[in-house]
Amino acid sequence: MLTIRGVSKNFGGVQAVDSVSFTVGDNEIHGLIGPNGAGKTTMLNLISGLLTISAGEIELDGQPVHRLPAEQRARLGIARTFQNLRLFRNLSVRRNIEVAEIHMRGRRDADPDLVEDAIARFCLSGVLDDTPDSLPYGQMRRLEIVRALALRPRVLMLDEPAAGMNHAETDQLFENLTWLRQRHPCSIVLIEHDLKFIMSACEKLTVMNMGRLLATGEPAEITSNQEVIKAYLGQGHHTDRSTPDEVEHIGT
Ligand SMILES: Nc1ncnc2c1ncn2[C@@H]1O[C@H](COP(=O)(O)OP(=O)(O)OP(=O)(O)O)[C@@H](O)[C@H]1O
Ligand SMILES: [Mg+2]
Repeated sequence: MLTIRGVSKNFGGVQAVDSVSFTVGDNEIHGLIGPNGAGKTTMLNLISGLLTISAGEIELDGQPVHRLPAEQRARLGIARTFQNLRLFRNLSVRRNIEVAEIHMRGRRDADPDLVEDAIARFCLSGVLDDTPDSLPYGQMRRLEIVRALALRPRVLMLDEPAAGMNHAETDQLFENLTWLRQRHPCSIVLIEHDLKFIMSACEKLTVMNMGRLLATGEPAEITSNQEVIKAYLGQGHHTDRSTPDEVEHIGT
């Protein structure tokens, strides 16, 4: 359903993404992995429309979306979370979620209970009137996911959702994603450095390195791919977890 074809992005002289192609199937959990600076977040920014591509094509259900502004892609159901959390620090947790629902205007909501169910499932019921920066870090990350769900996504893209979480929170996140797949079937693109998490969650993997596609396929093919082992799996990156970032005020 999501097709990335020959997509490139350069920032001045830096080729952050270099002619990358892969597809994400319907209701598939697709891991996007690779060393720091590989171009993973840039790829998410290109799919969501935060950045415009330098070359290539991005299609959702065969329709090109790469020329559409980010809001329109959100309305089509391309939703994402941010590696550096972007929450409105002056708004309550509930308002942070409602803001996302603006994109639902004019769309038929086939599932009006989804957000309330997700609030309960992601343990946010007791903090709806609080502001995000009063929450523990793991809860802020969960809020970002629920906010993305408010778009009733067809493609949900999560940029390091387990970063800064402890083991218990990471296990809970895994269970929540399992719940989500039943409750709201959609395709999920998951960036994570936690390979244990990636390997248990994902049906397909795409590996990037220095902006290029290294491999794409099933986890078993990827873990036995010598190039992938050399560039990423052999390096111990999987134990590297980002430190919590500050809550930022969303720019737009
Ligand atoms: N706005 C920008 N301007 C200039 N260079 C950028 C910009 N965004 C990313 N880059 C560069 O593009 C490359 C890819 O960065 P990106 O953030 O996509 O990597 P990543 O795979 O998400 O890494 P990490 O695992 O550390 O999050 C890096 O060399 C980075 O410095
Ligand atoms: Mg990144």
